[in-house]
Amino acid sequence: MSIEDKTIIQEFRQQFGSEPAFVVRAPGRVNLIGEHTDYNGGFVLPTAINREIKIACSPAEGRTVTMYAVAMKEKRAFSLDKLQRDACRWINYPQGVAMVLQGEGYKLRGMNAVVMGDVPLGAGLSSSAAFEVATSLAFSALSNLTIDRVRMARLCQRAENEFVGVNCGIMDQYVSLNAGAGRAVFIDCKSLEHRLIPLDTVHSRIVISDTGVKRELASSEYNVRRGQCEEAVKILKKHVPGATCLRDISSAVLKAHEAELPEVVRKRARHVVSENERVLQSLQLLEKNDLVAFGRLLNASHDSLRDDYEVSCRELDAMVTAARALPGCLGSRLTGAGFGGCAVSLVKAEAADAFCRELGKRYKAATGLEARIIVSEAADGASVMERRGSD
Ligand code: GLA
Repeated sequence: MSIEDKTIIQEFRQQFGSEPAFVVRAPGRVNLIGEHTDYNGGFVLPTAINREIKIACSPAEGRTVTMYAVAMKEKRAFSLDKLQRDACRWINYPQGVAMVLQGEGYKLRGMNAVVMGDVPLGAGLSSSAAFEVATSLAFSALSNLTIDRVRMARLCQRAENEFVGVNCGIMDQYVSLNAGAGRAVFIDCKSLEHRLIPLDTVHSRIVISDTGVKRELASSEYNVRRGQCEEAVKILKKHVPGATCLRDISSAVLKAHEAELPEVVRKRARHVVSENERVLQSLQLLEKNDLVAFGRLLNASHDSLRDDYEVSCRELDAMVTAARALPGCLGSRLTGAGFGGCAVSLVKAEAADAFCRELGKRYKAATGLEARIIVSEAADGASVMERRGSD
């Protein structure tokens, strides 16, 4: 048992005066490549990170869920029979998960829970998805539910779409549930199948650098991009019988008919179609362990997100420019929705320490802001730890 497990258990004892029955954990994620492709039925290649949300929980009498959030130093309760959006943002995540699970006919028990974690909040590393996944595992463990992990990812995504009100795709919840240590998760967001892809953890490091800029525009602009992609499909589908999403459009079809698309829509479609191709190429390169060529694709992904999808910002561009100029950097790009949040860089292992030190300095010189830099290990997916006895 790790130190943090002991801490969350002590917190639980303090809040509820008893032992938790389970501790569950769900990791955040970083996407290596395949950005803004998930809601287009496309391909993504994220890894789970070694930052996670934990919940210690026990069944409670009746239908009340009581949760204490260590980071907020705040205890909140809701009834499973009366779920309603709360002005307190964080409690809406477990409420949303409860709503979706009950809507699917699962019988939930009340619970007492403590939540804590070290996924930076609002930095684009999917703390929300990790919270949803941890909550659904906590409910499943206490109520004895068996829910397939792909189905659980979809239910957590629905909780975020329908209750929290963020129209995200499936990637974040999916990877948090299905990741494997030392591996990236290749997800086909149309068939919802995945494959674990080994990463060369001996020769390379994944470095995440947080710009410190909150993703203010992310949710409104995110919806605008989704609409533009749908518009592209509406126009192009007459050329591809059965096409339902941009995933079904090849670059050849796009090129042949791009004149039919309004200019902005054409650029959005060009990003998504080319990004899907880059993900597929990445799989081949990772299989050959050609990290240099893979790094070039990361760079191309960022450039496409900046120029065609227009979801970068000054600080992300500054971070990526600084990263690429440093020795040992194989490639660097924004990761997640954009408009702030983090960049991800692939760095030669022997250069990683110096890279991290220098990147912070150069980013500060360019923007005046402090970067938070994490060397991430591709972590395992979410899990439930049953507790026997007390320690
Ligand atoms: C956010 C969403 C994901 C995905 C990315 C962009 O992180 O939650 O579903 O769409 O943006 O790739």
